[in-house]
Amino acid sequence: MSKKHPSQSHVIGIDIGGTGIKGGIVNLDKGKLVGERFRIDTPQPSRPEAVATVVGQIVAELMTRDGAPDADAPVGVTFPAIIAHGVARSAANVDKSWVNTDVDALLTSELGRDVQVMNDADAAGLAEARYGAGKGVKGTVLVITLGTGIGSAFIFNGKLVPNAELGHLELDGVDAETKASASARERDGLSWEEYTGRLQRYFSHLEFLFSPELFIVGGGISKRSEDYLPQLKLQTPIIPALLQNNAGIVGGALQAAVHFKAVK
Ligand code: BGC
Repeated sequence: MSKKHPSQSHVIGIDIGGTGIKGGIVNLDKGKLVGERFRIDTPQPSRPEAVATVVGQIVAELMTRDGAPDADAPVGVTFPAIIAHGVARSAANVDKSWVNTDVDALLTSELGRDVQVMNDADAAGLAEARYGAGKGVKGTVLVITLGTGIGSAFIFNGKLVPNAELGHLELDGVDAETKASASARERDGLSWEEYTGRLQRYFSHLEFLFSPELFIVGGGISKRSEDYLPQLKLQTPIIPALLQNNAGIVGGALQAAVHFKAVK
């Protein structure tokens, strides 16, 4: 859809994950949520129709709040897969029936308003570049999210190069995310020291391949960054994400607003 929306600074962002679907009203002037975020468990199995229904419930709840955007304002949605022109092209940690689903069309029809869909880590990276730990940094910034999988955003001079799937870099014969994601740490019962060893291997490889100016680490365990980031030996500075778990919601909303020209 190509309808233009009036300029407004409050936009709804929805972050679809493998275990939870979270939404919030984002103040785009500040890059912050207006009020609390709202979360519902991801239905299992996480098939498209069931997930779309939950996204509809979250938007409906947010629209009852003070500060809600106009009823026809666009909604930004993030999804944990490759998203090309609104279509999911992979499904590493969600139901396989998402592959080749037009997520944009599905949610536009469910919500009855414009929707902009993007990869979850790309959204987090965009938010960090605009409002957070990567603000004003020139050159290459890699934002890596450690969660169920490993997500990545490739930012150059503040602009996103979309769909870098650096969690699927092959390291020692396997996808890196199967060894170094937060869920791999839990699954294998690793101490922080043991987990740091796996992160060292992963980030050293990224550093060798991309020579970035900065690494930003997001995802739920960025709250525990003191337990592993200072122990990493890299030439590149590596710092925790500032927006933490809200980065996806904020970045998704920002992308929707820019796409539909609600903000510059
Ligand atoms: C997916 C990415 C996603 C990341 C974090 C990976 O398994 O391939 O698209 O960004 O998990 O959710």
